[in-house]
Amino acid sequence: MGGRAYLQQDEAAIEFVPGSIVEQLNFREIFGQDAPVEVDLGCGDGTFLVAMGAQNPDRNFLGIERLLGRVRGVCRTIARSHLGNVRILQMENSYAVAHLLPASTISAFHVLFPDPWPKRRHHRRRLFTIEFFDAIDRALEWNGLLHLATDDADYFRSICEMIRTKPSFSIFEEATKFPMTAFEQKLAVNGAPIQRLLLRKVSPVR
Ligand SMILES: C[S@@+](CC[C@H](N)C(=O)[O-])C[C@H]1O[C@@H](n2cnc3c(N)ncnc32)[C@H](O)[C@@H]1O
Repeated sequence: MGGRAYLQQDEAAIEFVPGSIVEQLNFREIFGQDAPVEVDLGCGDGTFLVAMGAQNPDRNFLGIERLLGRVRGVCRTIARSHLGNVRILQMENSYAVAHLLPASTISAFHVLFPDPWPKRRHHRRRLFTIEFFDAIDRALEWNGLLHLATDDADYFRSICEMIRTKPSFSIFEEATKFPMTAFEQKLAVNGAPIQRLLLRKVSPVR
């Protein structure tokens, strides 16, 4: 079965398929309501995305995921939940952040359990690079948040080293409770340690 013919009508409206992959996204077109936008990068099966959308009806949530099978599943879940404030885009994370998100428009990014690529020769495939931080910085609003979590201690250390070179981010100290992702639920069963960080976009030190 080709393209998106598999989708029921409601589900088709939930996946946002851009008319062009070089034009920046228009959130009013995607959500039909003006509200702060949060983005879940690599949203997987959408467990976190849907829970956030249900808990925060006055905010918009965009999931970005590259795998078609997962995007299909998220569309079904969102359709069943009847959430008008949650939409999904099938796209590669770094490309979407750097090229499709308008500057200073995103109130929060959630990057939860990105693939760790633990082998040294695969580190260049990791999502978090200096260029990725720069793209996040550009897309975030003033005071916007970057929420990240990983169970890979080495990846977390390398992310922390990058953050030290980025004066435009500071650690956000307020206790914040988030719903668990599907991946996190599996880790919790095994008691695996999780590293989590909330960063706030602040003014660069001059
Ligand atoms: C380990 S899973 C975590 C999923 C979800 N965040 C969770 O915690 O349950 C990583 C997810 O990121 C997606 N992903 C990996 N690299 C990506 C990329 N470059 N662009 C978009 N999605 C990506 C994978 O397909 C997968 O769904």
